[in-house]
Amino acid sequence: MKAMGKVIGISGSPNRNGSNERAIKYALRVIKEKGFDTEKIFLSGLDIRPCVACKRCKKAKKCIIDDDFNQIIPLLTSADGIIISSPVYMGSISGQLKCLLDRTIFLRRKGFMLKNKIGGAIAIGGSRNGGQEFTIQNIHTWMHIHGIIVVGDDNHFGGIVMAPFEKDEIGIKTVEATAEKLCQVIALMKG
Ligand SMILES: Cc1cc2nc3c(=O)[nH]c(=O)nc-3n(C[C@H](O)[C@H](O)[C@H](O)COP(=O)(O)O)c2cc1C
Repeated sequence: MKAMGKVIGISGSPNRNGSNERAIKYALRVIKEKGFDTEKIFLSGLDIRPCVACKRCKKAKKCIIDDDFNQIIPLLTSADGIIISSPVYMGSISGQLKCLLDRTIFLRRKGFMLKNKIGGAIAIGGSRNGGQEFTIQNIHTWMHIHGIIVVGDDNHFGGIVMAPFEKDEIGIKTVEATAEKLCQVIALMKG
């Protein structure tokens, strides 16, 4: 049977198999059950350095920084939906995720290659009210700058979790609802 579409899950945590990666795996399981193909981008295993504002990507066919960014471009551009989970670091997204999000200016300069994809966000903090909402807002802001269509969890802003992921029963529900909403909107868009 043909897949309903494709969703990429991104974890912005440097921790291999930490709460963010487990939350993305959980969200992608929900999405897969709805009939979508899924793929993961885990920043714990990738070397993605900061944008150096060289502006060479206005003309060049790829980013001139020689790291793992260029290899994930096809994954990002082939997706119908993108769900991103970030750890809350000092009330905001992780530096690792910020590096990736900044580097995607390349895709904007190549004709808004992420436009009209559907996007959802998850934020995981060590505290109950440690800055998850602001962290989600950071991710949503990046999505708006690309023309990505932003969804929440049909209640508030997305997945809001206190680590460890499996212990936060309410947080898990917000992740699940965000994943479901993403699927619903992709299906609506595809008619
Ligand atoms: C540098 C740093 C800053 C942090 N700042 C916050 C914070 O502001 N608020 C919060 O709730 N948790 C904070 N934490 C805890 C992390 O958000 C939490 O450990 C992480 O989301 C767990 O996810 P992981 O297992 O995928 O690493 C911080 C952790 C680190 C390492």
